[in-house]
Amino acid sequence: MQPPATRYEWTAGDGSKVTIRPIQPEDRDIERAFVRDLSHSSKYLRFFSAIKGLSPEMLDRFTQVDYPQEMAFIATIQAEAKELEIGVARYMAGSSEDSAEFAIVVADDWQGRGVGRELLRHLFAVAKESGFARIEGIVMSANENMLRLCRDLGFTVSPYPGDAQLVCIGKEL
Ligand SMILES: CC(C)(COP(=O)(O)OP(=O)(O)OC[C@H]1O[C@@H](n2cnc3c(N)ncnc32)[C@H](O)[C@@H]1OP(=O)(O)O)[C@@H](O)C(=O)NCCC(=O)NCCS
Repeated sequence: MQPPATRYEWTAGDGSKVTIRPIQPEDRDIERAFVRDLSHSSKYLRFFSAIKGLSPEMLDRFTQVDYPQEMAFIATIQAEAKELEIGVARYMAGSSEDSAEFAIVVADDWQGRGVGRELLRHLFAVAKESGFARIEGIVMSANENMLRLCRDLGFTVSPYPGDAQLVCIGKEL
């Protein structure tokens, strides 16, 4: 099934023009560069381990989206006549039939400028349109920025069984 053709331009609070669009198989190069250039801390908060970059298998999985079971949107800008990825948010079908699990990461230079909030707003709207009733995620307990954003978006936070370094977050769509 084709993903919804939901590409749009969004203007950040500082006036920067950002494109939000579905990720595509042709995005391997910008996705690889985006993850490679994240800080150690952002990689750790997103992947829960000290990865250097994405393996070819992970790049395949992250850019070849199996809609409607999964969906991913990237935020990009134009830099020196090239498209540069500055954020990505994705969901995939979760543990129960009508729930999806999501993850997000924004480029370090772009954090705190509204990109994450906009990507999640759009991702959750598409997840709801695609038939999911609930969205869930796993976040590091120390990830204050993410937890502040998620509480603001209406998520409840609960302990992750057996690992105090993680918490579960969830909300009805
Ligand atoms: C968590 C993350 C996705 C948020 O995205 P973002 O683009 O930085 O967030 P936004 O700019 O949309 O900010 C939304 C809210 O989050 C909080 N926030 C996010 N980043 C912040 C920062 N660097 N400093 C202060 N507050 C911040 C604020 O409460 C902000 O509220 P506001 O909109 O009222 O100002 C981003 O910081 C990130 O990629 N972190 C590393 C990876 C990660 O933690 N992923 C989540 C695991 S799934």
